[in-house]
Amino acid sequence: MGMKRCSVMIVMMLFLQQQILISRAQLSSHNPYATSCPKALTTIKAAVYTAILKDRGIGASLLRLHFHDCFVNGCDASVLLDDTESFTGEKTAGPNNNSLRGFEVIDSIKSQLEAICPQLVSCADILALAARDSVVALSGPSWAVQLGRRDSTTASYDAANSEIPSPSLDVADLISAFSNKGFTPKELVTLSGAHTIGQARCSVFRGRIYNESNIYASFATSLKSNCPLNGSDDTLSPLDSASPVSFDTAYFKNLQANRGLLHSDQELFGGSASTDAHVTAYTNNPPAFFADFATAMIKMGGLSPLTGTDGQIRTNCRKIN
Ligand code: HEM
Ligand SMILES: *[C@@H]1O[C@H](CO)[C@@H](O)[C@H](O)[C@H]1NC(C)=O
Ligand SMILES: *[C@@H]1O[C@H](CO)[C@@H](O)[C@H](O)[C@H]1NC(C)=O
Ligand SMILES: *[C@@H]1O[C@H](CO)[C@@H](O)[C@H](O)[C@H]1NC(C)=O
Repeated sequence: MGMKRCSVMIVMMLFLQQQILISRAQLSSHNPYATSCPKALTTIKAAVYTAILKDRGIGASLLRLHFHDCFVNGCDASVLLDDTESFTGEKTAGPNNNSLRGFEVIDSIKSQLEAICPQLVSCADILALAARDSVVALSGPSWAVQLGRRDSTTASYDAANSEIPSPSLDVADLISAFSNKGFTPKELVTLSGAHTIGQARCSVFRGRIYNESNIYASFATSLKSNCPLNGSDDTLSPLDSASPVSFDTAYFKNLQANRGLLHSDQELFGGSASTDAHVTAYTNNPPAFFADFATAMIKMGGLSPLTGTDGQIRTNCRKIN
């Protein structure tokens, strides 16, 4: 075997070994903070509820932060790192720039936790818990968040651009984007149900309301006043116009009525038999949606976490120690 061939083999073996290590990283099902920081979970929950009382929409933003964290090199709080003069992180990547919200809530939680138990609770775990607490606060399901994530010392602008699915994707590409992360078409539908809460900017749905034909006419018309052809790019409209701050199955009913706000939302119904059936099933069965959403969130929260001595526990979620 030539030197070149041999070194290619070695690189491949190292790569495989790393994949195995990554998939082995384990989170804990019992709460590791129960003894080390017994007030951690109640502190986070109280802060989330306070933030939601002030702004009902912030719960959705906190849920989305966890998603955008986990889909980009795993749930490691990389999404929270601020850019510096010598470092460009994920915050200004296409899917995130002028779009992610809720950072101040995470900052407030982190400083409260640093005051009671310094350098114990990771920013990545805070994101996972804040996402769960937000869903519960908006009348959605609860789940046992697995814990023990550590925080990254880096972030990837390029990965944020390539790994977070775009709202312009068709159903086949949505299915493959989720399959790349280990999710089935059913789980794509389940997790997209997160769009039962929250808002989107005019710029991400303008093409749909002006150019697409599978949209309920009066729904499109009503959106155009806040989303003209020119300007108002950042004006927000609810993803689920029926019940924007309530975690329920209205999102799926909307899809059946051609009232999906994003192109990617509407693609889940009417575009493929492999997603249509799941949309229909959830519409008629809220408990099934809740149970599957809880399970899928635990799975998403387990994407490539840093554990053991990898990474660090940041003292400030916006920068490495
Ligand atoms: C299926 C692929 C997905 C696509 C293409 C997508 C795309 C988007 C887009 C374009 C927005 C609006 C962003 C803006 O206005 O700038 C949005 C908002 C949101 N997304 Fe997704 N998303 C997807 C999946 C998910 C998943 C899996 C979750 C969570 C489990 C999620 C949670 C949210 C939430 C809660 C909001 C509202 C955020 C807020 O109000 O601040 N999305 N999504
Ligand atoms: C992010 O948004 C700001 C403000 O709109 C803009 O000036 C900047 O160019 C954007 N950054 C990237 C990388 O697109
Ligand atoms: C509608 O589609 C046309 C043709 O593809 C395109 O030029 C135009 O920019 C689109 N309009 C919007 C609002 O996206
Ligand atoms: C939008 O701007 C373009 C060029 O700037 C102009 O031709 C068009 O009439 C404008 N459309 C609206 C609806 O104002």
